[in-house]
Amino acid sequence: MKLTVVGGGSTYTPELVDGFARLRDTLPVEQLVLVDPAADRLDLVGGLARRIFAKQGHPGRIVTTSDLDAGVEGADAVLLQLRVGGQAARRQDETWPLECGCVGQETTGAGGLAKALRTVPVVLDIAERVRRSNPRAWLIDFTNPVGIVTRALLQAGHRAVGLCNVAIGFQRRFAGHLGVAPADVHLGHVGLNHLTWETDVRLGGPEGENVLPKLLAEHGDALADDLRLPRALLDRLGVVPSYYLRYYYAHDEVVRDLRTKPSRAEEVAAMERELLEMYGDPALDEKPALLAKRGGAYYSEAAVDLAAALLGGGGSPYQVVNALNRGTLPFLPDDAVIEVQAAVGPSGPVPLPVPELDPLFAGLVANVTAYEELALEAALRGGRDRVFRALLAHPLIGQYAYAETLTDQLVAHNREHLAWA
Ligand code: G6P
Ligand code: MN
Repeated sequence: MKLTVVGGGSTYTPELVDGFARLRDTLPVEQLVLVDPAADRLDLVGGLARRIFAKQGHPGRIVTTSDLDAGVEGADAVLLQLRVGGQAARRQDETWPLECGCVGQETTGAGGLAKALRTVPVVLDIAERVRRSNPRAWLIDFTNPVGIVTRALLQAGHRAVGLCNVAIGFQRRFAGHLGVAPADVHLGHVGLNHLTWETDVRLGGPEGENVLPKLLAEHGDALADDLRLPRALLDRLGVVPSYYLRYYYAHDEVVRDLRTKPSRAEEVAAMERELLEMYGDPALDEKPALLAKRGGAYYSEAAVDLAAALLGGGGSPYQVVNALNRGTLPFLPDDAVIEVQAAVGPSGPVPLPVPELDPLFAGLVANVTAYEELALEAALRGGRDRVFRALLAHPLIGQYAYAETLTDQLVAHNREHLAWA
């Protein structure tokens, strides 16, 4: 089996490689190709990746290249984990929206739109090149904003599945609280990428006992602390929102908070410098503890599970993925991309039925889906007016004066990445 990681020079890659090494029975990778335009990073990350494989006795070969076409040739699956413009562009996304009193975040709100506009054309170009050389390859998309990018890929007819680590993070956390194995925890997970709620938590599988009320009663304080939301809110919702819902439920509080501290991009950039220095040490042969300070916990496990299921070798029968709605949430268009549990096999993901969603959540999901549709339009066709429409539709923006200012800012800060600007 050959797997290719586009954006393989990411400082996150050792997390992935560690997962491939540990879980080689689930996913027997014979060749792992790391593709990245940044040759210097690729050397450092590739070196550590080889040492991780060697230490864990993994027989697979690791190849590094900056040649995308060569890297994807013959791959069974291609993981996309790139960041157009790097942390510098992210820093902008996290900063200029704050001037309007709007959240500055890499995937939510105006910053997320900027990221979508920079990213969608690049990912579509890569996907096209993968298809040309290898039409049967599966694309596993970690590239944010995952919902919009996955929708772009599926709309263009690619064999793509979007993936995020929020669900697997909850699964692991709940399993810890309940004292059971993660595989025994089945989440009722619903919404859009970075806009989800755990509406029930079942033991053993989709038909198992719902222990969410018990989890909330016994561990509500710990869960609320992790999310930095009040315990009383969780009790009133009766579900567990993902931490991205904090940008909605506590928007103004978050904005005040973000204004007083360095951006996450700056923190991450500092960590990346430190990580790359560590990766250059020939004595290092495992993923360093510092990597745990990044947000990507367990993403390797999610990737292994999904690739194994798609490539027919195993993996969990049900997995939380980003896939076409196709009637699962009846109030959304069929071609919307939703994040739910799906049965995953070699012909792709099929969402499991979802119980009727409380209007408290359905309203926001419908609103953000409309925004995502407009965001994708703007990313594919460009133009200030399409950017304005997407911003006006976003529930965290909504007012024309903000949408106008944010359009100006978005264009001004992203000119070098936008062909039409
Ligand atoms: C979580 C999200 C990812 C996001 C990451 C950011 O893992 O699910 O989509 O990319 O956090 O982490 P960072 O360490 O870059 O802030
Ligand atoms: Mn994510």
